[in-house]
Amino acid sequence: MITLSVIKADIGGYVGHSSSHPLVLEKANECLEKAKRNKLLVDFHVTRCGDDLQLIMTHQRGEEDEAIHKLTWDTFLDCTKVAKELKLHGAGQDLLAEAFSGNVKGMGPGVAEMEFEERGSEPIIIFMADKTSAGAWNLPLYKIFADPFNTIGLVIAENMHGGFRFEIHDVKEHKKITLDAPEEIYDMLLFMGAPSRYAVKAVYHRGSNEIAAVSSTQRLSLMAGRYVGKDDPVCIVRSQGEFPAVGEVLEPFTNPFLVEGWMRGSHHGPLMPVAIEQSNPSRFDGPPRVVCAGFQLSGGKLVGPRDMFNDPSFDKARQISGEVADYMRRHGPFEPHRLPLEAMEYTTMPQVARKLEGRFVDL
Ligand code: F6R
Ligand code: MG
Ligand code: MG
Repeated sequence: MITLSVIKADIGGYVGHSSSHPLVLEKANECLEKAKRNKLLVDFHVTRCGDDLQLIMTHQRGEEDEAIHKLTWDTFLDCTKVAKELKLHGAGQDLLAEAFSGNVKGMGPGVAEMEFEERGSEPIIIFMADKTSAGAWNLPLYKIFADPFNTIGLVIAENMHGGFRFEIHDVKEHKKITLDAPEEIYDMLLFMGAPSRYAVKAVYHRGSNEIAAVSSTQRLSLMAGRYVGKDDPVCIVRSQGEFPAVGEVLEPFTNPFLVEGWMRGSHHGPLMPVAIEQSNPSRFDGPPRVVCAGFQLSGGKLVGPRDMFNDPSFDKARQISGEVADYMRRHGPFEPHRLPLEAMEYTTMPQVARKLEGRFVDL
């Protein structure tokens, strides 16, 4: 069995919240290289999406392993040191806890992990987003694993015809429910269609019960009880064979659907698929970005990455994202560009309401 762990954190932005500094990535590479030499990791790849540092690791220790989580926590701390020396913006911003306590979940970083038996060919697709939150994967995961207009394999591939099982988390109440596609899609969509509250955590192949996809569902704002940045989530998808083909996995991102995040984590905007090099959200701190790293696993070795959105066939999606961004921006401080009151990460409402309290009179 091999475990694939993707653990990420924003430990400082360059410049502002727009991107990451090369020296931070260099430090992360150094830390993980050492862990690979010491045989804690089988392999690793360090990358970024916007201002988020992404640690992609393979090992044989299973999910939520203390040594792996400690390694990533220490790596983030070492990288924060570099970020502080350079006075990068928001250095250490996602490290909410004072000290490591066995598991980075609940301490700030985002975590997506899956353990499985590596197949003869094991294509892995890793999505990473910046300036948005966990529920952003709901729409693409629905399309990939439940929508035959996206994934023709659901209709004509015998090994996918039985459908997929969705594990959906209520991020507010800390509850989960499992629902089956296609039989229960109407019930499923009731929840998945409200991504600020319900996020798809995992998807399973119903025939084999194999893990097909897993996402990070941490919500920093709910964890800290105050503004600490949107979660900028990640999602791992297994592809080919009994899972959707690479092209079926990427297809939903040709439509730059609206997500929450963007400027001050308080706006709706289009999710723009870009090459990793282009994940530098600068226009009104956005629009929100998604990048995609593809790997073939070989005995746990990460053969890759291929930068999957570095392809002219996504140019049109990028152009539409620009147009939607213009259209949304023209709403300025008005909903539905601005998020509803309870979803904004920045608000002055309590102070302003207090100041004007006496001036509100009954109708
Ligand atoms: C959104 C984001 C940015 C910041 C904004 C203000 O997720 O990271 O839009 O919210 O640049 O940042 P601060 O408060 O750090 O000045
Ligand atoms: Mg940031
Ligand atoms: Mg970020």
